[in-house]
Amino acid sequence: MSNTIQVKDKRFAVSISEAEIRAEVKRVADEINRDYAGQNPIFLAVLNGSFIFAADLLREVTLPCEISFVRLASYQGVSTTGEIREIMGLSTDITGRPVIIVEDIVDTGLTMAHMLETLKPHNPSSIDICTLLLKPGKLQVDLDVRYCCKQIPDDFVVGYGLDYDGFGRNTKDIYTLI
Ligand code: IMP
Ligand code: MG
Repeated sequence: MSNTIQVKDKRFAVSISEAEIRAEVKRVADEINRDYAGQNPIFLAVLNGSFIFAADLLREVTLPCEISFVRLASYQGVSTTGEIREIMGLSTDITGRPVIIVEDIVDTGLTMAHMLETLKPHNPSSIDICTLLLKPGKLQVDLDVRYCCKQIPDDFVVGYGLDYDGFGRNTKDIYTLI
């Protein structure tokens, strides 16, 4: 493992090791196994950033469960903010099902707040958020994040699925901008 990496024009230093990530992912999966005992949750993994986290998390989940990969697409539309985001790829019927959203990182929380609003009309029996990382100092909305592997400072991070301008996802550790 290298202590620093270059991603495009920026330099990053390792901040969360592969071993620590693995331990935290296992801890969160165990919480889910306990909390959802007797249920068949459907995991909705938000692409692209959560693909590695979702793969590792699911292998620690021992419940009968399903996973579906969704994408939040932004496009210019007629709204006051000029941006409308919608969920693409929600092919499984989540009506009456317990849903667990799998996200790479919650920053302002706006993405997750919007996703909750978009999922509610599908009438799942419950919705919980499971995020790899959370920046509490950046949260702008009142968001209930039930499962979180690690809280981090307000710095930009890459690796283990997280990107800087599309690059840097393919590392085993997580790195912070220096
Ligand atoms: P939010 O709506 O501000 O919570 O933004 C969440 C999204 O922004 C995440 O799903 C990431 O795609 C991206 N993001 C936020 N912080 C970082 C970071 O430090 N590194 C990489 N992506 C980030
Ligand atoms: Mg994301």
